Amino acid sequence: MRKKIIIGNWKMNNTLSESISFIQALKKNLENILQVDIAVCPSYISLNSVKEELSSSNIKVGAQNVYFEDKGAYTGEISAEMLKDIDIDYCIIGHSERRQYFKETDYDVNKKLIKLLEYEITPVVCVGENISQRESNTHFSIVKEQIVQALNNINSKHISSIVIAYEPIWAIGTGITATAEQAEEMCNYIRNVVSSLYNKEIADSIRIQYGGSVNSNNAREILMMPNIDGALVGGASLKEEFIDIVNSAI
Ligand code: PGA
Repeated sequence: MRKKIIIGNWKMNNTLSESISFIQALKKNLENILQVDIAVCPSYISLNSVKEELSSSNIKVGAQNVYFEDKGAYTGEISAEMLKDIDIDYCIIGHSERRQYFKETDYDVNKKLIKLLEYEITPVVCVGENISQRESNTHFSIVKEQIVQALNNINSKHISSIVIAYEPIWAIGTGITATAEQAEEMCNYIRNVVSSLYNKEIADSIRIQYGGSVNSNNAREILMMPNIDGALVGGASLKEEFIDIVNSAI
C-alpha cells in the first residue's frame, strides 16, 4: 500500500516572514495527520528557517531545485550537500518552469536525481507534456522519454524512494485541471513504463503524483484514482486551502 504524499510547491512566493507565519498556521492544522506524507517547498531563502520551525513536525520540507555538482565555481547554485546539511527531505527536479525558463534538460534531471539519491534526499521528478503534444497525441511518447532519461543508470533499489509528479504543462497555473481520468491514464502509463524498465513489483512501489491546478474542489476525485498517490500543488498551496487538499488524501 503506497502512502499518499501531498507537496506544496511555493515557487517564487513568500518572503521569509510570510513563510514562517504561514507555516505556523499549517502546522497547527496538520499536526495530527500521519496517514499522509506532507511537505512544503519554500524558496531557498526560507528553507532553513522553515525547516527549523518544523523540526519534530510531521510536515517535511523540500527544495525546488538543486545543482548536480558537489561544489565549486557555479555562481547562484545550491548543492545537494547543502540541502542535506539542513536536513531537507525532498527536492523537486525537472519542473516544467525550470525546463522552460532555465533550460533544464532530461540530462540535467538525471544527474540531479543521481546526486539527490547519493545524499538520501527524495527526488520529486516532474514530467509532462504541453498542449500541442497532447493535441497531436504524442503525450505518451513525450512522457515516456522523460521517464526513461530521468531513470537512466538508476539502480532498482532506489526506485521506491523516488516520487514522480505527472504535471501536464497545460494544466499548471491555468485553472484547467486534467480530468481525474486523464490524470489516472497517464499515471498508470508511467507505472507501466517503470515496470518495463524494472519489474512490476518495483513499479508498484513508486509513488506517482498528479500536479496542475489541484485545488480543494478537485483534489478528492483525483486522489481517489488507483495509480495517483498524491498531488504536487502550486497556487493552492499558498493558501489555507492546502489544509483541505491534505485532508482530501485521507
Ligand atoms: P498549480 O502548479 O497547482 O499552480 O497549477 C502546480 C505545479 O507547478 O507544481
